[in-house]
Amino acid sequence: MRRVRTLGLLGTGVIGGGWAARALHFGIDVVAADLRPEMEDWIRGAVANAEGALSRLTLAPLPPKGKLSFTTDPNAMARQADFIQENIPEQLQLKQRVLADMSRHAPPDVVIASSTSGLRPSDLQLGMAAPERFLVAHPFNPVYLLPLVELVGGRQTAAATLDGAARFFTYIGMHPLKVRREVPGHLTDRLQEALWREILHMVNEDVATTGELDDSIVYGPGLRWAGMGTNLIYHLAGGETGMRHMLRQFGPALKWPWTRLEAPELTEELIDKMVAGTHAQAAGRSIRELERLRDDYLVAIQQVLREYNIGAGATLRSLEERLYEESATAARERVRAAADAGAPAAGEPLRLLEIAVRPEWVDYNGHMTDSRYLQVFGDAARPRAAVRDDARARGRRPARAARSRAASPAR
Ligand SMILES: NC(=O)c1ccc[n+]([C@@H]2O[C@H](COP(=O)([O-])OP(=O)(O)OC[C@H]3O[C@@H](n4cnc5c(N)ncnc54)[C@H](O)[C@@H]3O)[C@@H](O)[C@H]2O)c1
Repeated sequence: MRRVRTLGLLGTGVIGGGWAARALHFGIDVVAADLRPEMEDWIRGAVANAEGALSRLTLAPLPPKGKLSFTTDPNAMARQADFIQENIPEQLQLKQRVLADMSRHAPPDVVIASSTSGLRPSDLQLGMAAPERFLVAHPFNPVYLLPLVELVGGRQTAAATLDGAARFFTYIGMHPLKVRREVPGHLTDRLQEALWREILHMVNEDVATTGELDDSIVYGPGLRWAGMGTNLIYHLAGGETGMRHMLRQFGPALKWPWTRLEAPELTEELIDKMVAGTHAQAAGRSIRELERLRDDYLVAIQQVLREYNIGAGATLRSLEERLYEESATAARERVRAAADAGAPAAGEPLRLLEIAVRPEWVDYNGHMTDSRYLQVFGDAARPRAAVRDDARARGRRPARAARSRAASPAR
C-alpha cells in the first residue's frame, strides 16, 4: 500500500465530515467528493465544529494540519487520492455501482474502504477493478473522537490490504479492530442492535420511557463499558471464580430468555413514542448543543482512561508516545545539523519538545495560564521516560538527548 498523504472521501455527510476532521487534524490532506455542491459549505462547517473538541484531545505536538479541497466529480477525487473512504447512503446496489465505477479511476494500489454499517465486503467488491484492495472500515460517530474502526475483508480482499489499512488508521489515532469473518452488521452494530430491539419492545409495551431506559445505562453499565467490556465485567461479577461461576449462576436465565430476537413492528404509535421521549430528554437543547456536550465529555473520558492505560485511553497514550518521539527525533536532528554547521551546541539544553501555545491557553493578560504550564511540563516528562526505557531495553545508557526539557512557551 502506498504512503497516505491524501485521503479521498466519497460522500460528505455525517460520516464523511467526521473522517475529514480526523484526517486533517493528523496532517493528512483531504479531497472530499459529493454530488451536491452545497456539501462543500457543510463539510467545512463540520470540520470547524469538530476542531473545538479535537484540539483539546491531546497536547502532543501534531504535524501541520492537512488541507481540505472539495469536488463534485468523484472520479477526479479518485485520481488524486492515496486511500479512498466511501461514505454514501447505506444501499447495496448504489454502493456496488459507485464502487465499481470509482475503482476504474483509482490506481490499483490505492486502497478503497467503505464505511458501511452492516453490508458485507464480499457483496460490495463484486464488480470492482482490483477488488483485492477493498475492505470495510466501519467507524463510529463522531469519527473524529471515537477511535474504533472495524476492519472487515471480503472473499477477494488481500491480507496486505487489511494490514496497510490498519497502519493508516493507527497513524490517525484510531484503534483498528480486525473482524475475523464477515457477518452482516460486523461486531459492534450487532451488539448495539440487540440493545436497540429490546428498547423498542419496552417502549412499545409502556414498560419504560426512552429517558428511563437511557438512565438504566448511563448511571450503571455505561460507566463500566468505557474501560471494560461486558465479558470482563461479567468475569468480575462472578466473584473469585470469575466467569465460570457467573455462567453457572446466570446461565439458566438464558433459557427463559428475558429478551426477544425479533424487533417489534415499527407502528406510527411506537415511532411517536420514541420521538416524544427523546424530545423530552433533549429538554430544548438543539442537536448542535447536544453534540458539543457529547464531544466535551468524550474528550474528558479519554483523558482519564489514558492515565489507566485502558481502552480508548491506551490508544490515546500510544498515539501521544509516537508523536512525542517523532518530535524528539526531529529536534535531535535539528540540533545535530546545527552542530554540524558549527553552532555552539555543547552544554546547551536540547529542545526535545516543542508545542505551539494555543489561543485558548492564554489568559486575559496575554500569558499562558499556570494550569497549562503544569500540563505542558507534565507532558514533557513522557518522551524522556520513553527514551530511557528504549535505551534500557537495548542495554545502553540513556543517551544525553534523554535529558529533555520542554521548549518554554514564550511569556
Ligand atoms: N451515521 C452514522 O452514525 C454512521 C456510523 C457509521 C457508519 N455509517 C455509514 O456511513 C455511510 C454514510 O452514512 P451518513 O450517515 O454519513 O449518511 P449521510 O446521508 O449523512 O451522507 C451521505 C452523503 O453521500 C452523498 N452521496 C449520495 N450518493 C452519492 C454519490 N453517488 N456520490 C457521491 N456522494 C453521494 C450525499 O449527498 C450525502 O451527502 C453509510 O454507509 C452508513 O451506514 C453511518
